[in-house]
Amino acid sequence: MVKALVTGGAGFIGSNLVISLVEKGYQVTVVDDLSMGVKANLATVADQVEFHEHDVCDHEFMHSILDEDFDYIYYLAAIASVADSVERPYETHQVNQESVVDTLEYLRVKGYQPKKFLFTSSAAVYGNYPELPKREDSRVQPLTPYAVDKYASERFTIDYGDLYGLSTVAVRFFNVFGPRQNPNSPYSGVLSIVTNCLLTDQQFTLYGDGSQTRDFIYVKDIVNALIFISEKTDSHGVYNIGYGKKHALLDVIRMFEEAAGKKLKIQFAEARNGDIQESLADITRLKELGFKSNWGLENGLREYWEYADGKSK
Ligand code: NAD
Ligand code: UD1
Repeated sequence: MVKALVTGGAGFIGSNLVISLVEKGYQVTVVDDLSMGVKANLATVADQVEFHEHDVCDHEFMHSILDEDFDYIYYLAAIASVADSVERPYETHQVNQESVVDTLEYLRVKGYQPKKFLFTSSAAVYGNYPELPKREDSRVQPLTPYAVDKYASERFTIDYGDLYGLSTVAVRFFNVFGPRQNPNSPYSGVLSIVTNCLLTDQQFTLYGDGSQTRDFIYVKDIVNALIFISEKTDSHGVYNIGYGKKHALLDVIRMFEEAAGKKLKIQFAEARNGDIQESLADITRLKELGFKSNWGLENGLREYWEYADGKSK
């Protein structure tokens, strides 16, 4: 049986990935401290997954897990909020970088050779340089502790491949949305907060004037891309994962209102410290590897709303 480890597997993207891996017949182990993820995200596969509620920063514990010698390791555990990393730079660094390097080092020292070690990085590494779209070899400008840690960890991931022969790959997600994204923190992904406000008739605070652009991608396309990339033996280096389309935040909110058939109450506030104005992926590398997305923004928004609305009833 194929064995996969998913760190952060009770989180938004991680739980969607775990469910797909279980459907493929993989034996899946999850490590998540439930700081942001919830066990309920894995409810439909609970009896088919080995779940450890644990901190990935506990190196000894992680070593004991890694001794299971996995075929695939998907490293998603992170404090995923840019704004939170600005508030808590050292704590987030322990999770977002130290834990990753320790895992790579343990694999090296022990001579484990997973078919793929996949690290999930972020478009945040590109920062605010004006050139768009962002190619994997575009200049980086990590402006926040989150972006610094993501960039460093992806470099460690690639270098452990180049220097020590581990089969590694790093992906840079653009803005992901969809079922199971946790809306309960002020630092949660924006569309999960919008969804929550629409469902409960609460006011939504929009930081900035809404002209900031993002390349939003539906989580089901993300999961398909993760599995596709990890299983391609010739995948290597860094891959952007987005749709290659940018939308102003306010426009996406309008599209979402349409999908929901509801109007959002918006209050405008000062732009957030460290927030990026423009973001857009160049996805040529991913396409050249052979990947094609199925969903797209509008279908994704529609399906996400149906899921969220259905769940609230
Ligand atoms: P998420 O917060 O839902 O998932 C992260 C998971 O990691 C959570 O379940 C959390 O409980 C867990 N976690 C956090 N600290 C941990 C620790 N010390 N030990 C064990 N588990 C811990 O976020 P997500 O959106 O699913 O993000 C998944 C990955 O993708 C993250 O690495 C994130 O940085 C990256 N990413 C996300 C996006 C996005 O738009 N959602 C974009 C770019 C990159
Ligand atoms: C997101 C991800 C980050 C990832 C990056 C890659 C989350 C929580 N963050 O960061 O992990 O690395 O994409 O591109 O998933 N906003 C509001 N009101 C709110 C919340 C947000 O106006 O209540 C605005 C923000 O100021 C920002 C935009 O919405 O301009 C998107 O914010 P957010 O969803 O936090 O994503 P990013 O910061 O782009």
